[in-house]
Amino acid sequence: SRVAVLMGGLSAEREVSLSSGRECANALRVAGYEVIEVDAGPDLAAHLHEISPDVVFNALHGRWGEDGCVQGLLEWLRIPYTHSGVLASALAMDKERSKETFRAAGLPVAESLLADRDEVRARHVMQPPYVVKPYNEGSSVGVYLVHEAANGPPQLSDNMPERVMVETYVPGREFTCAVMGDRALAVTDIITSGWYDYDAKYKAGGSRHEIPANVPAEIEAACLDYALRAHRALGCRGLSRSDFRWDESRGLAGLILLETNTQPGMTPTSLAPEQAAFHGISFPELCRWIVEDASC
Ligand code: DAL
Ligand code: MG
Repeated sequence: SRVAVLMGGLSAEREVSLSSGRECANALRVAGYEVIEVDAGPDLAAHLHEISPDVVFNALHGRWGEDGCVQGLLEWLRIPYTHSGVLASALAMDKERSKETFRAAGLPVAESLLADRDEVRARHVMQPPYVVKPYNEGSSVGVYLVHEAANGPPQLSDNMPERVMVETYVPGREFTCAVMGDRALAVTDIITSGWYDYDAKYKAGGSRHEIPANVPAEIEAACLDYALRAHRALGCRGLSRSDFRWDESRGLAGLILLETNTQPGMTPTSLAPEQAAFHGISFPELCRWIVEDASC
């Protein structure tokens, strides 16, 4: 069948998406599909109507591609598409709303509040250490870490949205766990020399991934369980990936769910494909599974 791979798009994660999209397009060719690469621009609806693919493989990240917008367009066009639908995408991308959903499902999240950008620049709106992030971006774009009060409030860039999320910083280790349908895959320990920021995420050698993470069985089991429950609570479909922090000194109580990504990265340094490979699922097999799972 004919698969259109959507990539690029308009968000701050455009370059990441181009990388994910190219990888997926190549893998789908290997898997035997006829593939059309589509750089998603303003004429997307007309373009998709014209090429009329059997399935859209969504390799977009960030705003408009991961937040329900493009999913709504694909529903309107009646083209089956991969990954999560409109509501799950919108819920997961809004870090505050997804937190409400997680809390209702009994999942542990960090304390947070929404504040005006100018207020956050003017004073510490929370006791440091804390993190400031846009409520609707990914790949650590626009994430500020305030270690201690003496550093003064963060000088947020004007590119930040007017409302931002301020969240208690959870010290310790960073884990991630992908979910493929009804199966949580594995726990990866992400080891960086500093902050797992944009460069550490996408530069080769920017971080080291230990899979499975060398942690007590109880912590591993909790991560797998939380990732699956987060996927279900949001109503996700296909592949998702949930990110965690673990403050080892607090045991199980120190494990916190940060967020669920409904369009996990599929770049050469990305985590979900690595977890699939850990289970013997090759990248083309993973992409084939995602396509077969598509619906609208
Ligand atoms: N937002 C990036 C693509 C990820 O979560 O993998
Ligand atoms: Mg994210």
